[in-house]
Amino acid sequence: MDRQWTIVTLGLSQAEQALADRVLGAHYRVLQAELPETALDLLEDSDADLLFCAQDLPGTTGTAFLRTCRVRFPEVVRILTGELSEGELVDAIGAAAVYGFVPRPWLAAQLELEVRRALENRELAYRHRHLSRKLKFTEDILERSAQTPADERLSFHKLLYCSPRMAELCNLARKAAATNLPVLIQGETGTGKELLARAIHENSERRDQPLMVQNCGGMSDELLHSELFGHKRGAFTGAVSDRLGLFPAANGGTVFLDEISEISPAFQVSLLRFLQEGEVKPLGSDRIQHCDVRIIAASNRPLGELVSEGRFRQDLYFRLNGFQLIIPPLRERPDDIPVLAEYLARKYGESINRRILGIAPEVVERLKAYHWPGNVRELENEMKRMVALADNGEYLTVANLSPHLVDLKPPRVNCQTCLELKGETLKEKIEYVETELVRQALQRHRWNQTKAAAELGLSRVGLANKIKRYGLNGRGASRAG
Ligand SMILES: Nc1ncnc2c1ncn2[C@@H]1O[C@H](COP(=O)(O)OP(=O)(O)OP(=O)(O)O)[C@@H](O)[C@H]1O
Ligand SMILES: [Mg+2]
Repeated sequence: MDRQWTIVTLGLSQAEQALADRVLGAHYRVLQAELPETALDLLEDSDADLLFCAQDLPGTTGTAFLRTCRVRFPEVVRILTGELSEGELVDAIGAAAVYGFVPRPWLAAQLELEVRRALENRELAYRHRHLSRKLKFTEDILERSAQTPADERLSFHKLLYCSPRMAELCNLARKAAATNLPVLIQGETGTGKELLARAIHENSERRDQPLMVQNCGGMSDELLHSELFGHKRGAFTGAVSDRLGLFPAANGGTVFLDEISEISPAFQVSLLRFLQEGEVKPLGSDRIQHCDVRIIAASNRPLGELVSEGRFRQDLYFRLNGFQLIIPPLRERPDDIPVLAEYLARKYGESINRRILGIAPEVVERLKAYHWPGNVRELENEMKRMVALADNGEYLTVANLSPHLVDLKPPRVNCQTCLELKGETLKEKIEYVETELVRQALQRHRWNQTKAAAELGLSRVGLANKIKRYGLNGRGASRAG
């Protein structure tokens, strides 16, 4: 007990009060009130723990008074004493919710026992409430952390990953974000080029200025010129008013030029000039305007190859290529698939009010075995479809998978290479294989040790021992993976 408990007594006879002072006063602070009003004042001021009240009170009954106290001081335990009929006792238990009743005349031991039990019970109830709240809080945190990336290293703005290649790429992108240099992002369709461009903008000092996006594919030079540099009224047929180009509009911010490989040789010259001078001249205008924009360009065709084929200017390629970021296709980073699949399923589930408990391991196996020509966008569509087919509060199972994914089998590990000893001892080889398998399982489950242990067929303690033994940790895993 950290502090001394306080008991307020009300309406006791002199002899009873003397007994209470002797028996209870040895352990608790006892405050005496003769009138209900005095008792209320004491309850108000003394931070009392227990009210010990007689049934016969001046102008009221103990039951009626305790009923008032139940509302005003719900934390104070109520014990009643006196001579009560059965009906009065039922009323006291029901309406005043008394914890106990001590019939007159009292026995000292009984009084002490009743009071001690009441106070201990109150303390237990309090601790139980406190711990439940704490537990609920912890559960909420755990649930939230299962929904969001476990730590910052596994996400770059909205881009999620856990594979070593993406970790390396995002580290480079973070460095690029801190500069003003142009960035060239390359990758197959749906790999997240636009998402990466946004992440770079959001991590740069330009984040409070606009990010403007221009798709350069399928645009005539005139239209593209007018979109990016602007035009004066009457500059060409259909130019009915002045138009502010994207470059001046994004002044201070970033312009994302998507499908840059599609621009004509003539427009490549205009863009190169802009990159060299930082100046724009709207179509049909003589006024030159200076703009400070950072260019991020993207292409799903390898620009370097187009340069060697003479289809893209080398000088422009070098200009755009301040930082070159190549996003690997999803099939080359299978470690990202479970993380992305779970995130996308949850995200879509939430948007249609459907709670998804998780993804069955057989589904994850198949998702990892597929070659994903449409990359993350295709995975996103597959997860949307699966969630739409699943019921609320269910796991996503093979039954929800698209037919072309159902028959896929996980690729066989090349056991021959795996079994060769390349200069190491048998013990070293086995430890290496074990470390890798444990590390990959942990990564797949985003360091949820319970899930990883279940997949590896280990106890949690067994897994913890291996983590310790091989010096694995979340940070190392994310650096390495
Ligand atoms: N690492 C990732 N984490 C979360 N979502 C991702 C990730 N990569 C891609 N996505 C999602 O996949 C979809 C496709 O991404 P995005 O549009 O950036 O790809 P893209 O490379 O620009 O595609 P395209 O070449 O077809 O223009 C988007 O919905 C995006 O949010
Ligand atoms: Mg895109």
